[in-house]
Amino acid sequence: MNLPPLDLLVPQHVRQFEAYVPSPPDSELRKMFGVERLVRMNNNENPFGPPPAAAAFLKSFDPASVARYPSGDCQPLRIRLSDYLGIKVSQLLFGNGANEVISFVIKAFCQQGDNIVTADRTFAVYEWIARFSGVGVKLAPLDDFGFDDEGLLGLVDSRTKLVFICNPNNPTGSWWNRERLTRFLDRLGPNHIVVLDEAYFEFMDQPDYPDGISLLPQYPNLIIFRTFSKMFGLAGLRIGYLAGSEAVVDIVRKTAIVYSVNSIAQEAALAALDDLEFIRATRAMVQEGQQMLAEQCAALKLPILSSDCNFAMIKLPFSDTLAYRLLMQQGFMIRTMTGFRFPGWIRVSMVKRDEMRLFCDALARLVHSRTDQSMLAKTYGVSAS
Ligand SMILES: Cc1ncc(COP(=O)(O)O)c(C=O)c1O
Repeated sequence: MNLPPLDLLVPQHVRQFEAYVPSPPDSELRKMFGVERLVRMNNNENPFGPPPAAAAFLKSFDPASVARYPSGDCQPLRIRLSDYLGIKVSQLLFGNGANEVISFVIKAFCQQGDNIVTADRTFAVYEWIARFSGVGVKLAPLDDFGFDDEGLLGLVDSRTKLVFICNPNNPTGSWWNRERLTRFLDRLGPNHIVVLDEAYFEFMDQPDYPDGISLLPQYPNLIIFRTFSKMFGLAGLRIGYLAGSEAVVDIVRKTAIVYSVNSIAQEAALAALDDLEFIRATRAMVQEGQQMLAEQCAALKLPILSSDCNFAMIKLPFSDTLAYRLLMQQGFMIRTMTGFRFPGWIRVSMVKRDEMRLFCDALARLVHSRTDQSMLAKTYGVSAS
């Protein structure tokens, strides 16, 4: 049979979109780069794994129970979380990771001709989902690595449905304090939905970092995203959520996929929820990692954007894709940033002390070897590629 007429069947905005290519499985990467061990520093995961209570639940999980469908709307988890957050159960909506929740929101509010507004260098999934959904995207350049309120406000028009603010911003780690955020919300007014992505909320310990959920009574046009992938170490189970005013969440629920959060994820999230000791230990690991990395970058004269989150960005004096290959050969997987409009930068996630020490050594070897090669190239005309 002939191929279907894809040119006719596929909307232009889908044809034009370049699909994201995920990285191959670790086992394949280990073979490709000839290493026995690979330290994952590319996805801002928690190297401790999930909190002990969630790990214990996973070990004791009864396989027979997977024959049953999960709660279609994560009800037990929503009840528990609503109590924890001090909001109503009906103000919460779960998805298969915060990524899926982004898609629910864009589907709920946008049609062709509408647009979203966000920063040019932030978490790329807002832009990607809008683009392959045929929705316009307006991007305000970052100002000194942070979201620029004036730039964002200048792009908003009558067809702007959603403004995405990543707070703190992945990948730069910058964040708006409460005063700056509320000033922005006041100036924008109630005619647009503001999505505040707080994927890294639990890492933030600064007194003036705003808890978006506490702003919901004052700003019913606000939607907050959170996830169990980062602090809570459940990235592989895919579970995230949004919180908003009842009226807004009722709308988003229309475009949500029922049953998309599996039962293991729901129960593990319930068990993970309030282990304060685990959060303290993770924050301590992050702080120590940030400090070790900052000291190494200072010694190597590499610009670094440290943050309160579990990642940092480093500027290299050579290509980030080359750095990726050379670091992989030493067993470290980092994130290249050219594709995220930061050519020559890498983003690295915080890992435990011993692995971070080894990474700092690998970074030094990399920088010294590239510097030596470019000196050779300059002196003798030897290629440094
Ligand atoms: C800012 C931000 N938002 C959302 C997500 C998506 O998280 P999830 O794993 O819950 O889909 C991430 C993941 O990297 C993120 O960094």
